[in-house]
Amino acid sequence: MTLVLVTGGTGHLGQDLVDRLVRGGHQVRIFARSQKSRADVEWAMGDLATGEGLAHALRGVHTVIHAATHSPIARRGGIRPVDFFRSPSDVDAEGTQRLLDLCHQAQVQHFLHVSIVGLDEASLPYGRLKLAAERMVRESGLSWSIVRAMPFYYLLESMLAGLVWLPVWPVPRTVCNPVDTSDVADYLVHCAFDRGCGVREEIGGPEDLSLVEFARQYQEARGMHRTIMPVHLSDKAARGMGFVVSRGVRGTLSWKDWLQRHTAETRCAA
Ligand SMILES: NC(=O)c1ccc[n+]([C@@H]2O[C@H](COP(=O)([O-])OP(=O)(O)OC[C@H]3O[C@@H](n4cnc5c(N)ncnc54)[C@H](OP(=O)(O)O)[C@@H]3O)[C@@H](O)[C@H]2O)c1
Repeated sequence: MTLVLVTGGTGHLGQDLVDRLVRGGHQVRIFARSQKSRADVEWAMGDLATGEGLAHALRGVHTVIHAATHSPIARRGGIRPVDFFRSPSDVDAEGTQRLLDLCHQAQVQHFLHVSIVGLDEASLPYGRLKLAAERMVRESGLSWSIVRAMPFYYLLESMLAGLVWLPVWPVPRTVCNPVDTSDVADYLVHCAFDRGCGVREEIGGPEDLSLVEFARQYQEARGMHRTIMPVHLSDKAARGMGFVVSRGVRGTLSWKDWLQRHTAETRCAA
């Protein structure tokens, strides 16, 4: 049995990932700042922002799946003006470099890095940090894989939830295909053990819909009605925020089905 270290194993994607690894019979160690209740994994406490606990966490590890991130947008569930100017680099840039250096020393056999579809120099500061991290992974000298994923449904849901107090919702017409973390986790587990490496096919959700339609389905699932005002967003601005259509692998869970599964949660939040 190979030992897999998951950074960000307590996050949205990380939890789905750990569930699948454990179900698949893998020995899993989660690198985290605080221990949660799960008893079917090993816990290695530490902090990517300082490097504390990392060397210890890597002992005996065969594969690292790096899903930790410090994204203010994901944490608060919405984009604010400040996100167009800066984003903290402690975890995604410095933390990733620290982790890569120590992976070398620990002779890790495969480093699987989670990234975002459509990143380029025009991305928001957070995206540019993720792009810099991809470069670090490519230059690490390790055997590596990079998987880019579309924005996750949970993030789309919290962005739309942030609009509920508005009588009219300005929503971009932009077409994109967000995806659920469960589908991304399935694909990552596949990529971790298929003996492949390099830049992998990106993954997105099953449907290409305009954000207006995603918002409409969201309102329907919540049993609410607000006027949706479609607005134009330039391709460049949309790409900068990750609203694109991915190529490659497609997940299977639709937005409608995801909303149905989370209806209780969303009603509660309303
Ligand atoms: N969200 C999206 O829409 C999206 C789309 C495409 C790709 N991605 C990528 O997918 C990955 C996971 O995203 P997510 O949305 O699932 O993230 P998330 O829910 O925000 O979880 C982030 C994880 O990182 C950990 N973390 C944060 N700071 C840390 C530190 N200083 N030291 C150690 N661990 C730390 C968090 O641990 P704590 O529990 O201690 O906070 C948490 O487990 C990221 O690489 C992200 O860029 C995300």
